[in-house]
Amino acid sequence: MAVTSTSLSVPKSISSPSVGPTFSGLRRSPPSFPSSTHSFFENVHSNLRLSSARKACRGVIAMAGTGKFFVGGNWKCNGTKDSISKLVSDLNSAKLEPDVDVVVAPPFVYIDQVKSSLIDRIEVSAQNSWVGKGGAFTGEISVEQLKDLGVKWVILGHSERRHVIGENDEFIGKKAAYALSEGLGVIACIGELLQEREAGKTFDVVFQQMKAFADSVPSWDNIVIAYEPVWAIGTGKVATPQQAQEVHVAVRDWLKKNVSAEVASKTRIIYGGSVNGSNCAELAKQEDIDGFLVGGASLKGPEFAVIVNSVTSKKVAA
Ligand code: PGA
Repeated sequence: MAVTSTSLSVPKSISSPSVGPTFSGLRRSPPSFPSSTHSFFENVHSNLRLSSARKACRGVIAMAGTGKFFVGGNWKCNGTKDSISKLVSDLNSAKLEPDVDVVVAPPFVYIDQVKSSLIDRIEVSAQNSWVGKGGAFTGEISVEQLKDLGVKWVILGHSERRHVIGENDEFIGKKAAYALSEGLGVIACIGELLQEREAGKTFDVVFQQMKAFADSVPSWDNIVIAYEPVWAIGTGKVATPQQAQEVHVAVRDWLKKNVSAEVASKTRIIYGGSVNGSNCAELAKQEDIDGFLVGGASLKGPEFAVIVNSVTSKKVAA
């Protein structure tokens, strides 16, 4: 691949928090590609090579998109009052780079506790929301209730809800539309199963999931897309930076073709699936990776802070 770790090493002066990364948008055009997966990969790779050659001339690389780096912590169905109080206290004392949107998603029952103890620098997300206005829906949590608690985001379409609970594309699209209509931001998850990847269907699957969102949502202004290959979630098998990048670039190109160039540029496409403090820097160097959605490693405050701060890897010497 064109993007190597040597060509992307971070000089100390740039990684220093006092300098801080800037995302001025040294951008390249997303590649155009034909429908065949094989030629698509060749095309993406050749675009990456061109992109790398351009970076060498310019001396630095920023992000392909123009959105701010975004890191979310998905705590899933974990924690107790005590463990969450410790996690919040670790997050409150962590040193976080300024140019990052940081969001955590506690279990519903602890949202109020987290909201009242967590610093404002970190926003709170829900892990799910009901598809419409609240009412006689036993066991559900409405968007209105989330807003009442000060929640700003909701994760929708997570693979555990798609494949364990059985939510389908259409239902997820409707949930996204409702949450957006009420002013919540949506972390919209997409991603393929292992057998789908092995059958060469990765792009078909993620494009279909993207289409389901596109068919329902009125605007992409408050949406962050999380590409989370299902085989990488909670398994310790992280996608390689190249595997993630090639899907991210394809998703950005899908947005360009099916929504608009502006939306393709400004929509954050974050990666999730076994991201941790050791692998985040290499992933963050990829031009189309605009941040992370982190599960297991977000339960440890200091490690989550390392992942947030991997934003410094975005600005590197060529
Ligand atoms: P993981 O989970 O980091 O534990 O793999 C990611 C996610 O499900 O969002």
